[in-house]
Amino acid sequence: MSRLVVISNRVPLPDKSGAAPAGGLAVALQAALEERGGIWMGWSGKSTSGRETSGIDIREQGKITYALVDLSRKDVEEYYAGFANRVLWPLCHYRLDLTDYARKDMAGYFRVNRLFAQQLAPLIKPDDVIWVHDYHLIPLAAELRQMGLKNRIGFFLHIPWPPADVLFTLPVHETIMRGLASYDLVGFQTRHDAENFAGCLKREGIGKELGQGLFEAYGHVFRADVFPISIETAAFAEAARTSRRHALVGRMRQSLAGRDLIIGVDRLDYSKGITNRIEAFERFIVNNPDSRGRVTFLQVTPKSRSEVPEYGDMQRMVAELAGRVNGALSTVDWTPIRYVNRSIGRSVLAGLYRMAQVGLVTPLRDGMNLVAKEYVAAQDPENPGVLILSRFAGAARELDGALLVNPYDTDAVSDAIARALSMPIEARRERWNQMMPHLLENDVSHWCESFLKALAGHGETKGDERPA
Ligand code: F6P
Repeated sequence: MSRLVVISNRVPLPDKSGAAPAGGLAVALQAALEERGGIWMGWSGKSTSGRETSGIDIREQGKITYALVDLSRKDVEEYYAGFANRVLWPLCHYRLDLTDYARKDMAGYFRVNRLFAQQLAPLIKPDDVIWVHDYHLIPLAAELRQMGLKNRIGFFLHIPWPPADVLFTLPVHETIMRGLASYDLVGFQTRHDAENFAGCLKREGIGKELGQGLFEAYGHVFRADVFPISIETAAFAEAARTSRRHALVGRMRQSLAGRDLIIGVDRLDYSKGITNRIEAFERFIVNNPDSRGRVTFLQVTPKSRSEVPEYGDMQRMVAELAGRVNGALSTVDWTPIRYVNRSIGRSVLAGLYRMAQVGLVTPLRDGMNLVAKEYVAAQDPENPGVLILSRFAGAARELDGALLVNPYDTDAVSDAIARALSMPIEARRERWNQMMPHLLENDVSHWCESFLKALAGHGETKGDERPA
């Protein structure tokens, strides 16, 4: 079996005991690396004070070599905060209004990708299989190819891919498309993203579809296919089942005093639709006076990417809105919204999901959304809650037992909350049973294996995310 080399912007380092940090992706990739032996390379998360990028920090742990690259402050500003998170992120989430293109950031993005390639190339053996993750590193394969590497190189995009009309607003869209065409396999979350990508290739005659998932562009034949990412379903369900042992979970239940719980969990990001969601919750309370004092909405929102100005704006907007709604609706013994601005450990979170009658997952656009999958996995099979899910999340393609909503339609989300809270137990069980077996079968290990199989050239081209 070939060695595996994983490259991602962030590297989830194991703790001292060698255990992977919480999170399905880290666990699955670390397991694949343990099995085959290999390297996980990425940014160390640190920035050096000078303008110059420093070297590479190599750490061996079992069969895995972690290779961590420090970046200069300038690199981080231009590559990460600039081009990746003020251009590619908003663009891929259909937010042209928030896209802020600057040539210097674009140059920094390509410069850091070249640096990663230069640091990585000497570590690569001829039959290593290379798997690159996400929008930060699109040009990496092209850089490695220029250095003469002939290895199989795959790319997985964790976020949505936009239609041609959106992508082509990016001045360097051709270079980005050329970057993707340099891989042997390009993986997307949903069929919709893969179709958008095919549309981008065809629109200006950049490339052509050869059939069976194969494309030709810039003189290179490559495969593009769909690999919906998932969670460690069984482990997460078990964590939820045993979550009662956490004192915090018990205290939360007590503090609810019999009220229904609605839960939302998101990084603080404009793509998550948090303000729309708070407005929909407010509408629900206003339209359903009986619910006053009887329903609590817990929104857990750890801060994210604070160095990017749009995220600071978002942070203020959400805090102000949650404060205004609470001020308007609260009574002395009931606070409708509990807004928590920090992250919560996975096993406690699993317990909170299980306690919640409703999982409210309403991003305006999302590659997949693993919170939706975690909410379903965490439910009590005898008395499951209801998932309300944005039709613009990749997960909506698979989770057909959810109440699908348009997050821009405040009334519709408010109605869905009312419907979910009054749904009879048989209907809830039926909906949950529609989703859980699929999630158990298609967990994150399955995702990892099918991508690597396809990259090795043995995978079949798939149809839709969910076979009929
Ligand atoms: O979902 C995309 C993603 O970039 C993940 O890869 C990452 O874990 C998450 O968003 C958080 O973003 P950041 O690494 O910018 O804090």
